[in-house]
Amino acid sequence: MYIEKIKESINLPETVIIFDTTLRDGEQTPGVAITVDEKIRIAKRLDELGVDTIEVGFPAASGGEMEAARKISEIGLKAQICGLARVIKADIDAAVKCDVDYIHTFVGTSPLHRKFKLKMGKEEILNKAVEAVEYIKDHGIVAEFSAEDATRTEFDYLKEIYIAVEDAGADCINVPDTVGVMIPTSMKWLVRELKKHLNIPISVHCHDDFGLAVANSLASVEAGAEQIHATINGLGERAGNASLEEVVMALITSYGIKMNINTVLLFNISEFVSRITGIKMPPNKAIVGENAFAHEAGIHVHGVLEKAETYEPITPEMVGHTRRIVLGKHTGAKAIKSKLNEYGIETNEEQFGEIFHQIKNLGDKGKKVTGADLKAIAESVLGKAKKEIVKLEEFSVMTGNHVMPTATVKLNIDGVIKTASKTGVGPVDAAINAIQSAVGVTADIELKEYHIEAITGGTNALAEVFVIMGDKNGNRATGRSTREDIVMASVEAVLDAINKILILR
Ligand code: KIV
Ligand code: ZN
Repeated sequence: MYIEKIKESINLPETVIIFDTTLRDGEQTPGVAITVDEKIRIAKRLDELGVDTIEVGFPAASGGEMEAARKISEIGLKAQICGLARVIKADIDAAVKCDVDYIHTFVGTSPLHRKFKLKMGKEEILNKAVEAVEYIKDHGIVAEFSAEDATRTEFDYLKEIYIAVEDAGADCINVPDTVGVMIPTSMKWLVRELKKHLNIPISVHCHDDFGLAVANSLASVEAGAEQIHATINGLGERAGNASLEEVVMALITSYGIKMNINTVLLFNISEFVSRITGIKMPPNKAIVGENAFAHEAGIHVHGVLEKAETYEPITPEMVGHTRRIVLGKHTGAKAIKSKLNEYGIETNEEQFGEIFHQIKNLGDKGKKVTGADLKAIAESVLGKAKKEIVKLEEFSVMTGNHVMPTATVKLNIDGVIKTASKTGVGPVDAAINAIQSAVGVTADIELKEYHIEAITGGTNALAEVFVIMGDKNGNRATGRSTREDIVMASVEAVLDAINKILILR
């Protein structure tokens, strides 16, 4: 909305070229190594996604890198296939051998790189850059030149080297913010100033050391950059590169720029790359994180159920993701009702109140309540005895490696208080023995079957206990309870079955 107010003051391009470097800078993510076959599979997905260029690796670096670049070039993808090369003939030759369409050549230009890494002067570096571009163009290949650490390079020298490579035939110059030191305003200034002196497209390559890679990339587009380097899931050296999914969705949604990207594939490719690289996305990662379209707070869920746009900037379908209503302590009645409806579970007011109360209680204890948890809780509540003849007043259990598990219960049986303490092989056994002892004198009810199931994984999973109890008259009843505490769930399930039998009598 507010973007409309500044659109006139910025000269937005019709489209932005996406140069994907997941397979090159993305693979430089510490701890990540992608096999040749995996590179091929990722390249095919990137091509389906619609990126313009795929930087497949650094052919001179290893046999595997060469093999991957060659094999991907052979497939005949729509995207241009690019190989990285230093401004060295041998590196360019390695890329040429792979039959790539495009070579991205680079050399450090900042005082730090000149003095400590390259041990070369400005002129020598400029000459090597020019020679490299000329050599690539002699092979009839698209040439992109990067002044590595451009954003810490003296502006006059940076301008001079870019003008020189343009004169040498470069098709595009790239401005790497190698250590992510830029902020959107400085990035905008730099691209705008460079643009005044260059005729070929300007590309940017922003690193995320201060979490500004996407913002800096967008600021560059506002200043006239035609191409952005990005990676799936923001992978890359150190804190990574600009995340492709975030850049693309911001360009489309906030700027209204048309792109070749098939955005519905974004979530899928993010998951795929995550599986292959072993780099999991944090749940709150924009666009592709597990929580990107999840709603928990009652007010938000209410809004989303009425009209999704109230709390969603884009639909999850747009990026192939799904909307999730999460149950927890912030959940409102509307969300729980809508979930129960979705599962076809009907409740009366009292039953709903009990389910609502249990969900809130679990949320207060820091538990994330899943759909399976809700179903189990609802089933326990719906299947509960209609009348509570035996009510639990108090319950305690003691257990440990040097004590015999002992449980004590205080029950209210139709107005009469009964207490009993019993031992057992474990706390659950002790608890059931204590209940049977307190009730048994008058009711003579025995446990026939006992089952327990963890609803979802983890030590804090909800436990669903299912029991069958019977008496000497042949009456049988089932009892069920779902709690985060196994002993409590067992006590409630047993009491539930006992109440059902007492009602039958
Ligand atoms: O970050 C960087 O400077 C690079 C270059 C190779 C372009 O990745
Ligand atoms: Zn980089």
